[in-house]
Amino acid sequence: MPADQTPENSRGHWGSGLVFIFAAAGSAIGLGNIWRFPISVADGGGGLFLLLYIICILAIGLPVMLAEMVIGRAGQKNPVGAMKRLKPGTNWYLFGLLSVVTGAVITSFYSVVAGWAGIYLFASFAGTFTEPVKEGTAAFFDRTTANVPVVLLAHFLFIGLTAVIVALGIKRGIEGMIKFAMPLFLLLLLALMFRSLTLSGSLDGLQYYLVPRFSDWDSSYFLLALGQAFFSLGLGMGAIITYGSYLRQKENLPNAAVSVVGLDTLIAVLAGLIIFPALFTVMAVAEVEQLDGGAGLIFVVLSGIFHELPMSWLFSVLFFALLLVAALTSSVSLLEAATAYLIDEKGMSRPQAACAIALGAFLLGIPSLLSQVDTSFFHASGMFGWGFSFFSLLDNIYVTIALPVAGLGISLFVGWGWGIENALKDLQQGRPSAFPWQRIWCFMIRYVAPIAILVVLVYNVFEFFNG
Ligand code: TRP
Repeated sequence: MPADQTPENSRGHWGSGLVFIFAAAGSAIGLGNIWRFPISVADGGGGLFLLLYIICILAIGLPVMLAEMVIGRAGQKNPVGAMKRLKPGTNWYLFGLLSVVTGAVITSFYSVVAGWAGIYLFASFAGTFTEPVKEGTAAFFDRTTANVPVVLLAHFLFIGLTAVIVALGIKRGIEGMIKFAMPLFLLLLLALMFRSLTLSGSLDGLQYYLVPRFSDWDSSYFLLALGQAFFSLGLGMGAIITYGSYLRQKENLPNAAVSVVGLDTLIAVLAGLIIFPALFTVMAVAEVEQLDGGAGLIFVVLSGIFHELPMSWLFSVLFFALLLVAALTSSVSLLEAATAYLIDEKGMSRPQAACAIALGAFLLGIPSLLSQVDTSFFHASGMFGWGFSFFSLLDNIYVTIALPVAGLGISLFVGWGWGIENALKDLQQGRPSAFPWQRIWCFMIRYVAPIAILVVLVYNVFEFFNG
């Protein structure tokens, strides 16, 4: 029988439903929570951003997460193949194709940042953060990331490791790693939060982070929050569709979606509770308000507070080690989606496909990496009226635009294209009702998510062209 007619048997599967949740959580929890979330908060108006973010998570992120899971499990294929199989002869799969490209691009700069985390791990081993950094943590960051051979090597090692894990297949390696790393990571974050909240600037920091100032409203914040929500949950490029395709029919997807989204949001919020109190201890309020995030934010701030902790050596080493593990489980999922596409649709072998994508992402990462180095070529400041770098260009286009566009495609596909009835049938598995919030989900995925994404996108594109 051709593989197409036996979708359940034609590919590998997760050991159990719990393993799937761990893998999906591993995909979600990563640099997005610890590194990118605080930057977005600083870019997007502090407490106002947090509010918008939580709205985006509940109204759009959670419904789309479940939608991706269902597509994957029902389609039993990569994003493109799954959409083609569920709705043959239509063009819906183009959204899947967009995801594959987006995945490779995001992997490219993701790996650069993960490389920085690797370098900071080394510095922690050397005891750099057990005392205040003499030149200042910002200068240390600039100097470290400007060391091109070292940064290049770190980027290469990280993407290489990701490719090896993906080439080995989903079953080996990552499952066990996530199971012990995630709880440990959570504990460490709690300890850091405790220290941060008892620092002198903590009240200012908490106020900035938690209290929305509606007078600051700017419509672009919503788009920022939306992009961040997709990035952090790992949605919009088929990673979850692909992971879902390794699922058997019996798992409870709504519960899995809630667990993964809840955990991811918890970790992001915790990261904010660590960064902002510490940030306000290091900087004056006025300075923070002018801050436009900047890719170095967490590195600069955190490396300034480790020495205030007991066992600072152990703390800094553990922190960066776990950050790297979290980044690795995420980059694996990023690469996995594009790899599964090449395997299923182009007939490549798994190692070939993983290496091809990783190589592309490695090369594409180089300009991002150099754009952190202050050269006039890449820092064409003022080009668009704002500080411009290749890094932030990719981040803006692919995270802030492409992920929501793909999310729009996914919600329209499940809500209308493939059809909500078919999705529900798959979720029900013969039971009369699939899950308690089934009706809300249908409403969200058919109306709220697509309309909200569309309005925000159109509005911002309009704004962009009108200056
Ligand atoms: N969610 C991950 C993080 O927060 C990154 C990531 C993994 C991702 N898979 C993704 C982002 C798919 C966008 C799309 O670090």
